[in-house]
Amino acid sequence: MLNRRSSVAVNQAQGFMPATSTVTGATILITGASSGIGAALARAHASPGVRLVLCGRDVARLEDVARACRESGAIAEMARFDLTDVMAMSRQMEMADAAAPIDLVFLNAGLGGSLPPGDAAQNLDAAYRMAMVNFTAPVVAANLMADRMARRGSGRIVLIGSVAQAFPLPMAPTYAGTKTGLAMFSRALRLRLEGSGVGITLVVPGFVDTPMSRGLPDPRPFLLTPARAAAIIRRGVASGRREVVLPWHFAVIMTLAQWLPRAAIEAVLRRMFRRSRA
Ligand SMILES: NC(=O)c1ccc[n+]([C@@H]2O[C@H](COP(=O)([O-])OP(=O)(O)OC[C@H]3O[C@@H](n4cnc5c(N)ncnc54)[C@H](OP(=O)(O)O)[C@@H]3O)[C@@H](O)[C@H]2O)c1
Repeated sequence: MLNRRSSVAVNQAQGFMPATSTVTGATILITGASSGIGAALARAHASPGVRLVLCGRDVARLEDVARACRESGAIAEMARFDLTDVMAMSRQMEMADAAAPIDLVFLNAGLGGSLPPGDAAQNLDAAYRMAMVNFTAPVVAANLMADRMARRGSGRIVLIGSVAQAFPLPMAPTYAGTKTGLAMFSRALRLRLEGSGVGITLVVPGFVDTPMSRGLPDPRPFLLTPARAAAIIRRGVASGRREVVLPWHFAVIMTLAQWLPRAAIEAVLRRMFRRSRA
């Protein structure tokens, strides 16, 4: 049997770096915790008694977030892995869940950005990575955690989608496709898990001022800071909402878009696309 010191060494070799403090209270795992919305979610949930498992690839940025969370009294651990390696991701999540059952998981990591306007389609490697990080990884992770949480009879899985789920964006077809798929997956999984004690929340952000959205052409209407976005998400998740659209303006826009003829929406998108290429 491994003693504590050797088990820590093994975990570190595999990328999972547990904190040394005793684990008590709620355990929250966040993917994409090294930047933007994920880092803000970590900070928003950091408080005494909370154990945070912060996932990402960039150790220096993860360590900065972990330090800030520890200063707020939380136990912060880091798990470093690439979401395109779904087997590595599954191992890390199983290990973190076995160390102390995860109560809440934010499947937040994502890749964004518009395609270069002159290109007919997305570079194959970029399309593959985007599909893996935005869709395949969260779907596999949600299945993994749903099974473990359902056996315990409690837990909540939060999937971070996008308002792009409502629009066939010619500027970013892969992105729009992954987020639309994630939205449908979230609805279906929520129905399947009814009565199991496991809740599903789909978060649908508009524009949040992060490295991802800074790469987009202006304007970014109704822009939120990551801290404000995290506060809205935290409140919605804590009250068990099935969907959190932020800011509220996009809930109105998405509802209106449902009632408009498809041809009208496509005409607007076509015009925006043409302007972006000019
Ligand atoms: N910002 C917005 O306006 C906006 C709007 C709608 C939806 N969203 C969604 O919100 C989520 C968070 O986005 P953000 O704006 O906070 O973006 P961000 O600041 O660019 O952060 C993205 C995060 O994803 C992680 N990540 C990316 N590729 C990864 C990979 N292959 N393996 C592991 N981790 C990976 C990054 O980790 P490392 O840096 O450590 O690699 C980083 O922590 C995404 O799902 C995005 O689609 C954002």
